[in-house]
Amino acid sequence: MKDQYGRKINYLRISVTDLCNLRCIYCMPEEGIPKVDHKDILFVEEIEGIAKIFVKLGVNKIRLTGGEPLVRKGILDIVERIGKLEGIRDFAMTTNGLLLKEYAKDLKVLGLKRVNISLDTLDDKKYSSITRIGSLQRVMKGIEAAKEVGLTPIKINTVLVGGFNDDEIEDLVRLTEKEEIDVRFIELMPIGEAIKLKADHFLSNEIVLQRVPNLIKIDGEDPSSPAVYYKLPNGKGKVGLINPVSCKFCKNCNRVRLTSQGKLKLCLHSDVEIDLREALRRGQAIEKIIMDAISKKPESHNLEDGVYVSKKMYQIGG
Ligand code: GTP
Ligand code: 5AD
Ligand code: SF4
Repeated sequence: MKDQYGRKINYLRISVTDLCNLRCIYCMPEEGIPKVDHKDILFVEEIEGIAKIFVKLGVNKIRLTGGEPLVRKGILDIVERIGKLEGIRDFAMTTNGLLLKEYAKDLKVLGLKRVNISLDTLDDKKYSSITRIGSLQRVMKGIEAAKEVGLTPIKINTVLVGGFNDDEIEDLVRLTEKEEIDVRFIELMPIGEAIKLKADHFLSNEIVLQRVPNLIKIDGEDPSSPAVYYKLPNGKGKVGLINPVSCKFCKNCNRVRLTSQGKLKLCLHSDVEIDLREALRRGQAIEKIIMDAISKKPESHNLEDGVYVSKKMYQIGG
């Protein structure tokens, strides 16, 4: 499946819920979000059906996202059904890790291969303040559980927020020294709640290379990954820089997104959406609808021109 710019689309990110058990300041409003009517959310069977069609069309990598995917009722059912699809070489989840201690074993048994865990700080108090309601200890236990059952390689996703966690860059990088854990710094993007944040919270990932000058660039990594990878001399894990703002990676984009309400999003930062849920419920053949949509995938985002998507990050899943 190729788009009009010749990019091969083989990666589907499925958001299974908008809901989250955290209230990160750059993502969720403090009061949380209203619950969407049950019938407006894709049923488990619908998610499976749509995923199956994408796999038939050439998708071989699926990631479950949220909100927080582990708060979705029926998440294990979803994992089991997708885990059984033939032709998927990579099946992963992006989670805040709070519920991983409880879920890791079942996820692994049902076919999930690995997890990326969002963690912005290693300090208890700062964790509670950026997430408003979270407990760092629980995430740490979740990471341990994921390691124990082999949901690996584990990647930690850290959104860099100026004045909040830039003083922890060295400590976070050090996590990769003795263990095969990757730590990836993500530039804060102006989307959803983050649009309200002050300019000095937005940092370029250049700062990571300035703070840790002995990082060595790793060549030959997957070119469609949004991350550029480095490592410490003798480091076991990798350090990734995800630079959507300072160095946009759209020309190698290989992904599309499905929201929990069944809208196909061709680009994280575009408002163009295709309603697969309604098409499916009307009995239309969605294979052709998907192929037509893919050919119209936008060439790139235009954040630099102040063009921001209206959906929130928790509705799209990153
Ligand atoms: P791997 O498969 O392990 O490489 O993970 P991934 O980077 O594809 O997925 P993950 O959910 O861990 O993504 C980390 C973050 O990178 C997301 O939350 C986004 O902030 C950012 N990101 C991922 N894909 C895109 C993209 O297509 N565009 C932009 N602008 N940012 C992206
Ligand atoms: N900019 C960059 N990353 C973000 N995330 C959520 N909001 C933003 C934003 N505005 C990250 C989360 C998580 C992933 C799903 O997206 O921290 O790692
Ligand atoms: Fe792909 Fe859009 Fe992300 Fe660019 S901004 S990498 S085109 S999803």
